[in-house]
Amino acid sequence: DRGRFRHFMLKEIHEQPQAIADTLEGRIAHGHILPAAFGVGADAIFASVERVQIIACGTSYHAGMVARYWFEDILRVPCAVEVASEFHYRNPVISPNTLVVALSQSGETADTLAAIRMLKREDPERPVLAICNAPESSLVRESDLVLMTRAGPEISVASTKAFSTQLVSLALLLLAVGRASGRMEEAEEERIVAGLEKVPGRIQDALDHGDRVRELAELLVEKEHALFLGRGPMYPIAMEGALKLKEISYIHAEAYPAGELKHGPLALIDETMPVITIAPQNELLDKLKSNIAEVTARGAELFVFADERAGLHSADFTHVLPVTSNVGRISAPIIFNIPLQLLAYHVAVLKGTDVDQPRNLAKSVTVE
Ligand code: F6R
Repeated sequence: DRGRFRHFMLKEIHEQPQAIADTLEGRIAHGHILPAAFGVGADAIFASVERVQIIACGTSYHAGMVARYWFEDILRVPCAVEVASEFHYRNPVISPNTLVVALSQSGETADTLAAIRMLKREDPERPVLAICNAPESSLVRESDLVLMTRAGPEISVASTKAFSTQLVSLALLLLAVGRASGRMEEAEEERIVAGLEKVPGRIQDALDHGDRVRELAELLVEKEHALFLGRGPMYPIAMEGALKLKEISYIHAEAYPAGELKHGPLALIDETMPVITIAPQNELLDKLKSNIAEVTARGAELFVFADERAGLHSADFTHVLPVTSNVGRISAPIIFNIPLQLLAYHVAVLKGTDVDQPRNLAKSVTVE
């Protein structure tokens, strides 16, 4: 039931504050991750983790890419992320004490299942953790450890609340591995937990900018292409924004790490190429600002979703939408993704596409 919403996608976008509260429920308390969050036996596995290998497809892959920045930066645990269809056909090398994490909304994605089956054939003792939204799925049945994302049923083909709850689940994994392996200071754990508890409210604030995002969507609807730029954990968020836009509005969209502009994509920039970027307040902001100057100097129309304190202002052909303020490195990708979901949604509605059921796509990709 879509309730008061015109599409399931919009309903599911608006369910995110509650979905995330549900993901956190009973798993954190008093500034800590609770020992039972990942089930019995998890701590012993996490204590000896030396590497993390994440396997996923599509939107779930983008969530994994964000987690890679967290694991390496915060825990100093090497973390690799790969799309399942490549991973399981290239004969990958997995070193001992690698925690394999399969990320999937449906738990029935053929490539993701094939990848974990291959790993299990190779070494039945190697632990596989499933982060999944479907309790009865094949992935959940075939994994050793499970964390349910608890997003609730996701009907829209374009994934939104599943992605946000995957990010929160990966943050819980970061905490659990950090604690069990002694790689995270207690004060850091408390900071991250406090940040996670604020995420539902901050998403709600970001959702309240929906009307402004719809106005921006009107400026994009006639475009044929769009370029999404981000740095650090915002690079996978740019990829996710581009995927959402292409999936449901059929506008060709590409994402690049902003630092790669000069290495090729800058050649595409002129007044017909809108550039969409995400500007949180972090140590990369100055670099991002110079990338922004490069594209506006070449006549691109620029759309920036920014931290209120980023010091960016709208001008001719530059549209700055302040989204949030003072968010940490775990919360930032979760929150800055929200306006990109809304942007894709509103562009698709304006174009009149079948938003919940985009052409050629299936909700669950059960064949390779
Ligand atoms: C995009 C989308 C797909 C899925 C992908 C993986 O909006 O929904 O890219 O993310 O097919 O699906 P799951 O997570 O079910 O394995």
